[in-house]
Amino acid sequence: MSILLIAGSPSAPSRSSRLLQYTSDQLVLRGHRTDILQVRDLPAQALLHAQFGNAELKAAQAQVAVADAVIIATPVYKAAYSGLLKAFLDVLPQDGLAGKLVLPLATGGSQSHMLALDYALRPVLSSLSARHVLPSIYATDAQVVWSDDAGLAIDPAILQRLQAGIDNLSASLLALQEVAPSSFEPVHFSQVRCSV
Ligand SMILES: Cc1cc2nc3c(=O)[nH]c(=O)nc-3n(C[C@H](O)[C@H](O)[C@H](O)COP(=O)(O)O)c2cc1C
Repeated sequence: MSILLIAGSPSAPSRSSRLLQYTSDQLVLRGHRTDILQVRDLPAQALLHAQFGNAELKAAQAQVAVADAVIIATPVYKAAYSGLLKAFLDVLPQDGLAGKLVLPLATGGSQSHMLALDYALRPVLSSLSARHVLPSIYATDAQVVWSDDAGLAIDPAILQRLQAGIDNLSASLLALQEVAPSSFEPVHFSQVRCSV
């Protein structure tokens, strides 16, 4: 099943995007198809002016529409998620997350705003009709460290939470896949009744 990972940081390099890339790699190892959408690469004016008809925004909306699950990563900005991410969520259709599983991820400077995803982002995801918002994952800057020599080092406690989140998402997607074909029980021809 296909998973779209949305990177909501205006910065590059970005800790939250690195966490997102790691998550994508893990999902690919589990047999899922993933795509990463960097919101910062979308045309800024179209986003800020909410130009719903802009071709690049429409392409990004289409990426969301076809995904079975969406993982959203954001830095904490002023005790909430980034304005860039909000600008993108604002140009999705009102039911833009209908039928989708959503896993929120965030990095922040300290533990102080670790509930930001739950009090700020979760209501927005619900208003976009997300099918199910999985427990969010929050890491501080000290827990997600990058060096050119060693690459990405994730604190063991966060790594454990992330693996659990990835396993949860992966299992939920597989369960949905199995449920879908059997949602209509086969009816034997002898039981078929026609009324005219
Ligand atoms: C404008 C701005 C506002 C921030 N506000 C907060 C905040 O309110 N709480 C917090 O814990 N960290 C805050 N931070 C720190 C970032 O959330 C943190 O460094 C995060 O990991 C950056 O993620 P990124 O590298 O993906 O952009 C802020 C950083 C910036 C640049």
